[in-house]
Amino acid sequence: VTAEKGGYDHFMLKEIHEQPKAIQDTLVGRVKDGVVDLSQELSLTEEEIKGIDKIHFVACGTAYHAGLIGKSVVEKLVRIPVEVDVASEYRYRDPIITPSTLVVVVSQSGETADTLAALRAAKQAGAKVVGITNVVGSSVAREADEVLMTWAGPEIAVASTKAYTSQLIAIDLFALHLARVRGTLDEQTLKAHTTALLNLPQQAEAILEQAGSIQPLAAAIAKHDNLFFIGRGLDYAVVMEGSLKLKEISYIHSEAYPAGELKHGTLALIEEGIPVIALATQKEIFEKMVSNIIEVKARGAHVIGLGIEGDTELGKSVDETLFIPATLPLLNPVLAVIPLQLLSYYTSVARGLNVDKPRNLAKSVTVE
Ligand code: G6P
Repeated sequence: VTAEKGGYDHFMLKEIHEQPKAIQDTLVGRVKDGVVDLSQELSLTEEEIKGIDKIHFVACGTAYHAGLIGKSVVEKLVRIPVEVDVASEYRYRDPIITPSTLVVVVSQSGETADTLAALRAAKQAGAKVVGITNVVGSSVAREADEVLMTWAGPEIAVASTKAYTSQLIAIDLFALHLARVRGTLDEQTLKAHTTALLNLPQQAEAILEQAGSIQPLAAAIAKHDNLFFIGRGLDYAVVMEGSLKLKEISYIHSEAYPAGELKHGTLALIEEGIPVIALATQKEIFEKMVSNIIEVKARGAHVIGLGIEGDTELGKSVDETLFIPATLPLLNPVLAVIPLQLLSYYTSVARGLNVDKPRNLAKSVTVE
């Protein structure tokens, strides 16, 4: 059994460590002359791409969190308005779908019942559907008009890790493809983004080399029953995934909060000693984030900050600091989620829980 886990104690840890390869494999063959180009595998014509007037990301669970990042990435790079929905909400809310809507469904398994129902409803309404999935021949792969594979390889642990980072890569690739066709980015910017993507596997590897340093933080967290994750902008989307990961496998209640919104209610829950995991990877809103950290510190929170290597400011206002290598701000989520995955993993282990098969959950939810 240890053999199939590649020497790791659990599938989840193995899959966390497979991320550099999963990212690499998802990038391979999708760059031409230094720029992302998906025209070999997508049949969407230039005219169709230019005709898109809005995009809907629809997914469940971790894949939904990938969609949240997708909204920021696509809106920033392609300037098309994006909505993101949980599939079980989308299918019943009568969304406005027209033939010029592009619906992107994201599903590791390609079999999630609600996601499939949303895919079918979107097609029925005349929209083009792009399926981002990890399983060749899955229902999403068969039914979507266009398929963009993530090449993460089989994911066994219920808590999704390498599928998520690969979904982020697929979304970045797709956004850059649209940006090139629609001309929203110049050649130099396209090249810079592509180069940054190609550097991610090696940067993810560098984070994993320090994995052990997260263990003592996890041991401390394992003693708590409640904690908070905070962030702003893209960091908010990442902490939603970090919080879900921790809930799934450690059974610790946590809430992810947009840091600027804390003072409108949630700050009342901050008391002496409560752990707060604060992401501060976004340069543009760094100062704002630091003031939010100071707000929770002043109420006694024990803050674990996650910032960008080379940052000398964050350390001054938090209790512990974790760093990720510098990349383009839009790509930070791919790296920032890795320490959060490790934190969840080691917390679950510290609590002596069944990491790979948490109670009440299934890897793929094929019933409504
Ligand atoms: C289940 C899994 C989650 C996953 C979600 C969506 O709830 O436990 O890890 O994110 O389904 O799965 P999908 O295969 O559609 O990405």
